[in-house]
Amino acid sequence: MTTQLITKLPAILDPTKIPQHVAAIMDGNGRWAKQQGLPRIAGHQQGANTVRSILRCCKDWGIANFTVYAFSTENWGRPEAEVNFLMRLFEGLLDSELDRMHAEGVRIRFLGDRSQVPIGLRNMMDKSIKKTVNNRAVTFNIAINYGSRNEILQACRSISKRVKNGELETEQIDESLFAKYLDTHGLPDPDLLIRTSGEQRLSNFLLWQLAYTEIYITNTHWPDFSNDEFTQAIADYQQRNRRFGKV
Ligand code: FPP
Repeated sequence: MTTQLITKLPAILDPTKIPQHVAAIMDGNGRWAKQQGLPRIAGHQQGANTVRSILRCCKDWGIANFTVYAFSTENWGRPEAEVNFLMRLFEGLLDSELDRMHAEGVRIRFLGDRSQVPIGLRNMMDKSIKKTVNNRAVTFNIAINYGSRNEILQACRSISKRVKNGELETEQIDESLFAKYLDTHGLPDPDLLIRTSGEQRLSNFLLWQLAYTEIYITNTHWPDFSNDEFTQAIADYQQRNRRFGKV
């Protein structure tokens, strides 16, 4: 997060209808870099600046939870140099931003399977969680080595074990119990999902949690996703009539 002054809530937004949880599929870093004649990694670096400014808006505008899809279980299939760069970028960002984020009251959490994450990054993740656990200004959830199907399977395995051990009856398994076994336990479901760069799919992101989420898709590449466009996305969300399957 930058040390810049507080970003005021834009006048077009209704302060009584602020989403409590915004999630983002940050697509288009590579395409942005290509357009600029730069290597793909420059796109990721610029994308990190967008994360910083959107997180600041969330904090300042009262959006209690911000979740980003930083690295999917499928992303290991990218060229080794890009994967290594991303792992080092995440570690470096956490290292350089942790004190500032902590001072701003950001609570950091991670979604995904940490067992395959390089040890240096994993240690930094543990340190970030520990340091910020009591912060309440905004919760920043970073999905690293995350895949929703895998998360759901893990939940099924844990619940099955408890049933097998006689600690749980099958009848006790309902939506609220199931949600407690997901990486997002304790978080409200996202109100708004933003996907940049025009693709119209969920890409194995929060499949359970997005059941009733409003979706905003833009052609803008993530590095170009500005505070103004974030305002636009929320304004759009505020116009929606959320019925949750009712009339
Ligand atoms: C998708 O664009 C982006 C990623 C897989 C990496 C996202 C990482 C960041 C934005 C860095 C900062 C992150 C944090 C959590 C501080 P792409 O590479 O798939 O772009 P393309 O579809 O145009 O190739």
